[in-house]
Amino acid sequence: MAEKKSAKTRRGREKNGKNGASAQNQDKTPLLDTLLSHAKRKVVSFHTPGHKNGRGIDKKLASYVGREIFQLDVTVFPEVDSLHDPTGPIKKAQELFAHAYGVEKTFFLVNGSSVGNMAMIMSACRPGESLIISRNSHKSTLGGIVMSGVWPIWVQPTVDQNLDILFDSSPEQIEQALKRFPEAKAVFVTSPTYNGVATNLKRIADLCHARGKLLLVDEAHGAHLKFHPSLPMSAVDAGADLVVQSTHKTLSAISQGSVLHFNSKLIDPSRVKRIISMLQTTSPNYATLASLDLARWQMMGEGRKILDKLIQNCDRARGQINQLKDFTCLTRATMQGRGYDLDATKLTINVTRTGYSGQDISEMLTKDYNIQVDAADLFNLIAITGTGTDRSDLDRLVAALTELDKIKQGAAQNWVLNIPSLSTELVMNPRDVFLLYRSKRVPLRKAIGHISAQPLTPYPPGIPVLIPGERVTAEIVDYLEDLNERAVRVSGQEAEELKTVRVVATH
Ligand SMILES: Cc1ncc(COP(=O)(O)O)c(C=O)c1O
Repeated sequence: MAEKKSAKTRRGREKNGKNGASAQNQDKTPLLDTLLSHAKRKVVSFHTPGHKNGRGIDKKLASYVGREIFQLDVTVFPEVDSLHDPTGPIKKAQELFAHAYGVEKTFFLVNGSSVGNMAMIMSACRPGESLIISRNSHKSTLGGIVMSGVWPIWVQPTVDQNLDILFDSSPEQIEQALKRFPEAKAVFVTSPTYNGVATNLKRIADLCHARGKLLLVDEAHGAHLKFHPSLPMSAVDAGADLVVQSTHKTLSAISQGSVLHFNSKLIDPSRVKRIISMLQTTSPNYATLASLDLARWQMMGEGRKILDKLIQNCDRARGQINQLKDFTCLTRATMQGRGYDLDATKLTINVTRTGYSGQDISEMLTKDYNIQVDAADLFNLIAITGTGTDRSDLDRLVAALTELDKIKQGAAQNWVLNIPSLSTELVMNPRDVFLLYRSKRVPLRKAIGHISAQPLTPYPPGIPVLIPGERVTAEIVDYLEDLNERAVRVSGQEAEELKTVRVVATH
């Protein structure tokens, strides 16, 4: 019986993956197996880390998690392989991962998609070249811009002012930017966004490749897309050159466990490898690496089944939330109507009709219902689901919202984001601002005419009003003062209130 079942699972593993991803030997977990067999041998450790297979871990933690897990926390030696120069089980695990996603190479990352974004930009662009990139890209992209010395060409995302949903780069916007800046070396797109909104990556890839440009995709929130036909097309299937995924965000890898996929004729993989190696620790956590191996194995075997259930449960919860009086949940049909797609496993719940802010509702969910959402702003809650979410979790969320639906406070808030179209002028390369110049803090109004040495990003909507290297204008200061008065949080501000801004001082 057991044999029958494992043969069936193996066959599933061979069939899994969208668009016929080959699954040769996908029932193996070479890195996890190596670590488990090493742990069983109870080797006397004269290597780092100092806790020595968990023996040195204080009982405050050990009594809760046990000591076994720490036996997987080893260092680089031939048996377990080296992340920076893999020749053994890490190499095999990366090859299986690449096979599963149908790409040429996969590199394991132990500092999340953050390090992957930096590596993608540094691999694709050299100092003085330019990169087309959406202005609301994750903050890690600024690190990539600074370290590569590239000139960013910003694409302004469209904002739905009532829903506070950002629409990242559409094919039309990218085409326009490519026509206006034919010298751009590459295009950087985030899809799906934090809200699960996916752009038409296939069209964007075609636009880029017809002009010999590289397409880099931040797919931090889309490691699962490859494994189900009812989800938006994954960046690897769309033909992107480099793709970053946080395997830990939606699949079962441990936090930080992420990957960078390479699938390009336009760039040398050894350059990508050298850059990743430059950015990563020499002491990677092997449990995190093994969890990548296992997450891939799990998805190749059971992915379709797990996602079938998850999508069904999310759609059901979405439907129930949309029956409520004051809460609404973003739907795929709405997004498709606007030329985008939606990852059904993300629940973006609008709260404006309740009279409360998203932060208020989030606090109530935490305090009164023991539910923690991933993020909340003035308008929305973002509930992220994953392979570990089950129906009862979603039932709990719906039940809590059903109760909260009855406690409306006063009139519905009619919050509308009046975002002025601020014209910005990039006068210095962000790398020069960071590396060559000192900076100083000056009162907001006195900063007019100076060059910003910091990013300032109001939430909502999460689009920076200033980027290092841009000129501070009276119009921008007026807007920042207005945000200050309305107590809108501005990421990057250095005190409770946004009274000063850091500007470029001397060489
Ligand atoms: C769109 C996007 N890209 C990249 C990242 C960074 O991912 P990680 O936390 O894996 O470093 C995040 C994190 O939330 C994100 O939302």
